[in-house]
Amino acid sequence: METGRKNRLSPSILAADFNRLGADIREAEEAGADFLHVDVMDGDFVPSISFGMPVIRSIRRESGMFFDVHLMVREPIRYLAEIADCGADLITVHLEACADVKKTLSAIRELGCQAGLSIKPGTPVSALEEYLPDVDLVLIMSVEPGFGGQKLLPESYERLREARRRIVHSGRGILLEVDGGITLENVSEILAAGADVIVAGSAVFRGNIRENVTAFRNLLRK
Ligand code: DX5
Ligand code: ZN
Repeated sequence: METGRKNRLSPSILAADFNRLGADIREAEEAGADFLHVDVMDGDFVPSISFGMPVIRSIRRESGMFFDVHLMVREPIRYLAEIADCGADLITVHLEACADVKKTLSAIRELGCQAGLSIKPGTPVSALEEYLPDVDLVLIMSVEPGFGGQKLLPESYERLREARRRIVHSGRGILLEVDGGITLENVSEILAAGADVIVAGSAVFRGNIRENVTAFRNLLRK
C-alpha cells in the first residue's frame, strides 16, 4: 500500500468499460493509479446494483493493485469474509448501513483487511468521532451514493475540512478519502480541503485513461 506519495488516486471501475475491464484496469495501473476503487451496490442501501464477488475475484487474478472495496450494502457484516477472500485490501462500509458499526469494523480487521468507514452527505461528520480508534480510513461521500457521473456537492469541502480536523485531533494516521464528482477541475480544491485519497470514476475511465490518470497524478503531486 505504501506508495511513497502523500496523496493517492483510486480510480473507480464503476465507470470502466466492463467489456474490457481487465485492460482498462491495467491501463490505469500502468499510468500510475495507486489504489483501485471497487464499488459494490446492493440495490437496497442504494437504489442501484453494480457487481459483486465473481467480478472482484476475477480482476484480483489480473491485478496487483491495492483493492479499495467500497460496500454500499445493508448489513455488510454478512459478506465481509467472502469479500476479504476475493482479495480486498481495504473494506469500507457505511455507518448508516450497519446495526453494529464497531463489530463490523473489528470483523474487517480480524479478516486481515484495513477498515474504512463512510458517511453519506446527510450524515454529520461528528458521527464518525466515536469510531476513529477503529478505522484506517474515513470516506466522505461527495455525492449521494448509488451512481457514478454525478456533480460534487459543494458542502463536501467543509465536510472534508471537518473530517481532517477530527483525524488530526485523534492523533491516528487515518487516511481521508473522498468519492463522487471529482474532476481535474475541482481536485486541487479537494486536496486543499484535506483529502488524501481521491476516487474518480468518470474522470478517469471516460476518455483516454492513460492521459486522465497522468493528469490527476500531476495535480496530486503538487
Ligand atoms: C458512487 C460511487 C463512486 C462513483 C464515483 O456511489 O461510490 O465511487 O463510482 O464516480 P464519479 O467519479 O463518476 O462520480
Ligand atoms: Zn465508491
